[in-house]
Amino acid sequence: MAVELRELTVPESKEIYEMAREIGAGENGFVNSLYIAGYSKFLKLLPVLRDYSTGVGLPPGHVPQTLYFLYAEGRPIGYGKLRHWLTDSLRVTGGHIGYCIRPAARGMGYGTALLAGLLDRARGLGIGRTLLTCNEDNARSRRVIENNGGRMAELDNRYCRYWIDLSNDSPAADRDKSK
Ligand SMILES: CC(C)(COP(=O)(O)OP(=O)(O)OC[C@H]1O[C@@H](n2cnc3c(N)ncnc32)[C@H](O)[C@@H]1OP(=O)(O)O)[C@@H](O)C(=O)NCCC(=O)NCCS
Repeated sequence: MAVELRELTVPESKEIYEMAREIGAGENGFVNSLYIAGYSKFLKLLPVLRDYSTGVGLPPGHVPQTLYFLYAEGRPIGYGKLRHWLTDSLRVTGGHIGYCIRPAARGMGYGTALLAGLLDRARGLGIGRTLLTCNEDNARSRRVIENNGGRMAELDNRYCRYWIDLSNDSPAADRDKSK
């Protein structure tokens, strides 16, 4: 599967806007940060989101976060958010990474590929252990996490917490080296 992960740039194409519209407001705890009506408003939102990556203009209590888009055959398929470190709140819900695949492209392995790419970026930021959180009944997302070496650490009030070890001798690191 030929896929590519690209960091958000300014401006982004109308294709990204259309993908965000298709995804909608978000589901299963994933908040679609790009969901805004009107392409001109979308273009104004992009620099704000890009600045979050360097810690500029963050909402109170938020940590720097970088957005990455997954492309397959030149078309955007989904995107993910990588939070650079955890807060007490993210330790409970949210974790380091959130992700979403556009509805028409689900069930084809893209979610698994997207998380693999995001974990690679997390490793690049020096994150050794990555926390992923997920509703107990979100079977697809749980498979995506497990496909990437996630082992459930905690099930709390129908909410799962998984850790993925990104140190060099971990299964996730081995999988990544074999790409
Ligand atoms: C979660 C999400 C990213 C998965 O994307 P995807 O492209 O469908 O993921 P993949 O195709 O890589 O894998 C889906 C896995 O779920 C499995 N699956 C699909 N439907 C399923 C079901 N009803 N029950 C159990 N497993 C299911 C697939 O078999 C596959 O597992 P496998 O690789 O072991 O065969 C996508 O469904 C999505 O964007 N959901 C909305 C946002 C969301 O829930 N984000 C995560 C918040 S924690």
